[in-house]
Amino acid sequence: MPLIDDLEVSASREELERRRFLGLLGSGALGLAGLGTLIAGVRYLEPDVLYEEDERFTVGRPETIPVGTLLVARTRKVYVVHGPRGFYAISAVCSHFGCVTRHTPGQARITCPCHGSSFDLTGNVISGPAPSGLVHLKLTLEHGLLIADASCPVPSDTVLEV
Ligand code: FES
Repeated sequence: MPLIDDLEVSASREELERRRFLGLLGSGALGLAGLGTLIAGVRYLEPDVLYEEDERFTVGRPETIPVGTLLVARTRKVYVVHGPRGFYAISAVCSHFGCVTRHTPGQARITCPCHGSSFDLTGNVISGPAPSGLVHLKLTLEHGLLIADASCPVPSDTVLEV
C-alpha cells in the first residue's frame, strides 16, 4: 500500500513531465517560427525574377542548308527559310489567336490548325482569318553559324545574305 509521501512524489513527477513536455513543445514552436522567418528572410534577399529561356538559338551552318529549304525549330516556334535572296526567320505563331502553325514538307504554304489561316513561305497571309502575316525574326551570322532570335522581330523584308 503506497504511503502518502509516495503519492505526492508521484504527482510531482507527472507535473514535471507535463512541464517538460510543454517546454519542449514551446521550444519546438519557437524553433519552427524562427526557421520560417529565416527562410522568408533568405527568399526576400534573393531577387524575385522570372528567368526565361534564352530565345536565341543556333540554326546551323548556312552552307549546309540548300536554297529552298524550310527548317522548323518546333520547340522555338520558328521557321528558318533559305530563300532565293538569302535566309530569313519567321515566327510559327499565328497572328490570329496565337496557335502554332504547321508546315508540311514539300508544300508552299504554312497552315494554322485552329481556324484555318494559311500563309505563304514568306509569312504573308494567303487566307484568313489571320489579320496579318507571320512575324519575321532576327537572324544573324556568328562565327559561321546562323543564329535566330525568337524574341527580336524585324521588318518583313529583312533577309540575311550569306
Ligand atoms: S489562331 Fe490561327 S487562324 Fe486562328
